[in-house]
Amino acid sequence: MPRIAVTVDGIRYEEDVEPRLLLVHLLRDRLGKTGTPVGCDTSNCGACTVMLDGKSVKSCSVLAVQADGSDVVTVEGLSANGDMHPMQRAFHEEHALQCGYCTPGMVMAAIDLLREDPDPSEEAIRKGLEGNLCRCTGYCNIVRAVRRGAQSMGQAVTTP
Ligand code: FES
Ligand code: FES
Repeated sequence: MPRIAVTVDGIRYEEDVEPRLLLVHLLRDRLGKTGTPVGCDTSNCGACTVMLDGKSVKSCSVLAVQADGSDVVTVEGLSANGDMHPMQRAFHEEHALQCGYCTPGMVMAAIDLLREDPDPSEEAIRKGLEGNLCRCTGYCNIVRAVRRGAQSMGQAVTTP
């Protein structure tokens, strides 16, 4: 069984993993990172999105062995000193949580979107999050939250 080393939310782990083990199951079942949900079995929903070496990935479409030597950040690693990440706070303040199932993946995808486009239009936000599905179909609040998150992260947000 391959042995991998991976840093998750700032802590280094060494784990023996079956070659077929998915990263999302390593995170949830072995490391207790249950803040990252599994929302589908088709790699469509994006609920399982985490940062892998700084870029958002659907962790159900990555094998744990592929994360060997990598740095992973889950939604549980975003807060610092008990303070929510600005994007988490924006989701809270804009009531973008709804049932909350898709929220971790939405937050991670939004942060990645701002890395590439710190001043996203509403259209860019909707396009940037199109790999993340919200079954509550409440995208208006989510888009507002991403705009607010961008503002509070010190970025000017323009209206399309
Ligand atoms: S659980 Fe990964 S995309 Fe749905
Ligand atoms: S908030 Fe319920 S699935 Fe998005």
